[in-house]
Amino acid sequence: MDMTTTLVDHTFRKDVRRCFEMQTYAIPARWLYDRRGSELFEEITELPEYYPTRTETALLKANGAAFAASTGSGRAVIEFGSGSSAKTPHLLKAIDPAAYVPIDISGAFLEHSASLLQDEFPKLPIYPVEADFMKRVALPDAVADMPKLGFFPGSTIGNMIARTSVDLLRFMRETLGEGAQLLIGIDRIKDPQILVDAYDDSAGVTAQFSLNLLHRINRELDGDIPVELFRHRAEWNDLYARIEIFLEAQQDLRFSIDGQGYELGKGQKLHIENSHKYGLRDARLMLRAGGWTPLHEWSDERDYFTLMLVEAHPYKHAP
Ligand code: AVJ
Repeated sequence: MDMTTTLVDHTFRKDVRRCFEMQTYAIPARWLYDRRGSELFEEITELPEYYPTRTETALLKANGAAFAASTGSGRAVIEFGSGSSAKTPHLLKAIDPAAYVPIDISGAFLEHSASLLQDEFPKLPIYPVEADFMKRVALPDAVADMPKLGFFPGSTIGNMIARTSVDLLRFMRETLGEGAQLLIGIDRIKDPQILVDAYDDSAGVTAQFSLNLLHRINRELDGDIPVELFRHRAEWNDLYARIEIFLEAQQDLRFSIDGQGYELGKGQKLHIENSHKYGLRDARLMLRAGGWTPLHEWSDERDYFTLMLVEAHPYKHAP
């Protein structure tokens, strides 16, 4: 077992214990993405109800000339949570970058996606960094003097509550430095039924994605949770402007994790994910709170999704 695995084990165990022992009934969404979870998420992105991936990809394809005009060539593109890097080629083709730095917590995935990308862009220097982008990340020396463009697609920022998203944006500003730009995907507020359908699809893939978290606990933390007695639920919380995902116990039940017994009452919900949605003004204010000045925005014709280009201007004395 390598060091990363041990660390991940330890924090996963700690987070799961907090959920049941301190009865917070909440588990951080990052634990949804083990190998199986990442496969299921890839399946989600192809679902007819799940509009974000195809809408954002279309925006990236359609607006290459505009990206080139706003950012110019010769930047180092730094991608946060690069995963499969599926959307990256559209951006790289458009802006003629000097280097590409994919950052991801999963080292194996990272090497694989980086080598696929290298085949497509043989002359582009690629420097993968295995790191948790929720903390400060040290960039490779090779890109230190290059102008930077951060890339944070997928509306991944939607998983974070307001204070955490602003912390992350400030970290990114420190990582990338003054003068850097950031291209970020933002999922927009829309008809709640469209949102609920996107997170509770008719084929049940999103339900499998959620329930995999319980399977993962059983696999990795020696659990015997009766997974079939839980139901996936997606609810729109209008006050917080977010989809909330729960796993709800369908009857009173008992199980054990790591030899420790727990009980849940019928109807008890485990909160496993948030997916925040934004109006344009909400998103601009969040970005400004994180130290980023809005430059350009590109939206689809239904206003389902927006790509925002922002810049780290020097801090000025405000009146
Ligand atoms: C990866 C956080 C962008 O919130 O839309 C999709 C995760 N969860 N379906 C999202 C997710 C259930 C996704 N993000």
